[in-house]
Amino acid sequence: MKYLMICLGNICRSPLAEGVLRDKLEKIGSNSIVESRGFETYHDGDIADYRAQKTAKKHNIDLSKHRGSLFQAVDFDNFDMIYVMDKNNYSDVASMARTPEDMKKVDFLMNASRPGTDTVVVDPYYGADENFDEVYEMIDEAADAIIKQYEKK
Ligand code: 4NP
Repeated sequence: MKYLMICLGNICRSPLAEGVLRDKLEKIGSNSIVESRGFETYHDGDIADYRAQKTAKKHNIDLSKHRGSLFQAVDFDNFDMIYVMDKNNYSDVASMARTPEDMKKVDFLMNASRPGTDTVVVDPYYGADENFDEVYEMIDEAADAIIKQYEKK
């Protein structure tokens, strides 16, 4: 499987989601891949936000190699599942879909563990450190559900 995590800046939520899911994939010896993208040109090429890195480190996950990159239409071809964090991300991805088929790959990340709820992973960028811990807990829950759904047959 090829998974793609999407948020606005690709410096806080989606790099954390990428790191958490990759860690779980590695632990079960999966060959699946996970990447992340954003929509904010301002952060293209940026390292992950230091608070996201700090939160990841608490769980032995290293985000130091992350560099922000922008979502492109070709990503619809290159990934099997595209997970968004919030409604704006969903609209941004939808605006680039070329066919209705493209959108079949797209879902809210939290629907992995809370199906049909469209639960949002709130942007922690203007928040406090605790908000990053909350983001981590939500992502961890969703990543476990993804592993169960697609990796453990
Ligand atoms: P992210 O957080 O979408 O979780 O990476 C944000 C990072 C930067 C901005 C917004 C959200 N920004 O407006 O610069």
